[in-house]
Amino acid sequence: MKIVMLGAPGAGKGTQAVNIAKEFGIPHISTGDIFRANIKNQTELGMKAKSYMDKGALVPDDITIGMLLDRIVDNDCKNGFVLDGFPRTIPQAESLKAALSLQDARIDHAIDIEVPDEVITKRMGGRRSCPKCGGTYHIAFNPPKKEGICDNCGTELVQRADDKPETVLERLKTYHDQTQPLIDFYRNEGVLTEVDGTKKPDEVLADILGALR
Ligand code: AP5
Ligand code: MG
Repeated sequence: MKIVMLGAPGAGKGTQAVNIAKEFGIPHISTGDIFRANIKNQTELGMKAKSYMDKGALVPDDITIGMLLDRIVDNDCKNGFVLDGFPRTIPQAESLKAALSLQDARIDHAIDIEVPDEVITKRMGGRRSCPKCGGTYHIAFNPPKKEGICDNCGTELVQRADDKPETVLERLKTYHDQTQPLIDFYRNEGVLTEVDGTKKPDEVLADILGALR
C-alpha cells in the first residue's frame, strides 16, 4: 500500500496520514516533520531548509528528493508507506515514479483533501503540534484530552513557527503555484481520490478508508 497525501497546507494531511498509517501498519513519512526534526537538531540539512520554510517557500528539489528517496528504502517501508507533504512539485513526482518503477512498484493511491483557502486560514491559528511524535491537534476542532499535552506520548504541544498568518498566505500561494498541478498528475495516473476536507476529522477519515478499501 503506497499512498500519497495531497492538499493545501492545513488541509489535514498530517491528521489523516497518522490514522491511515495506523490502520494499515505502514510508516507515516512527513517531509515537513523530517525538516523540523533537522532544524531542532541544528543539522546542516535543517539550517538549509529553515530559510525556505520560514518564508513559506519550498525547500529546493535537489535537497528534498534525495532525502525522501533514501527514506523509502528503509526496512519499515517494505509493505508500503503514507507520504505526507511529498511530492510537492512535478519533478518530485516524476523522481518518485522513476525510483518506484525500478522496483516494479508504483503509487497505489493519491488522496487529495480539498479545503477552500478561507477555511484554512481560520484553522491554522488554532493548530498545536507534538514536536516528538508529530501528533496534530486543534484547540477548537480537535483538542487533546489534556490541554497542551500530546495524547500519544505526553509531550508538551507547540505552535509551529510557520503558522503566522502572513506565512500561511505565502504557503497557500506556493501550494497553488507549484503543488496543485499534482492533482492532474495523479488523475492521469488513474490513482486519484478526492475527499471533502471540510467535514469533521473522523468523517474525512471514514471517506478515505472507504476509498482505500
Ligand atoms: P509541511 O509540514 O508538510 O506543511 P504543509 O503542507 O504546509 O501542511 P501542514 O502540516 O501545515 O498541514 P496538514 O495538511 O498536515 O494539516 P494538519 O493535519 O496539520 O511542510 C512545511 C514546510 O516544509 C513547507 O512549507 C516547505 O517549506 C517544506 N517542505 C515540506 N515538504 C516539502 C517538499 N516535498 N518539497 C519542498 N519543501 C517541502 O491540520 C491543520 C489543522 O487543522 C490542525 O490544527 C488540525 O487539528 C486541524 N484539522 C485537521 N483536519 C480537520 C478537519 N477535518 N476539521 C477541522 N480541523 C481540522
Ligand atoms: Mg502536516
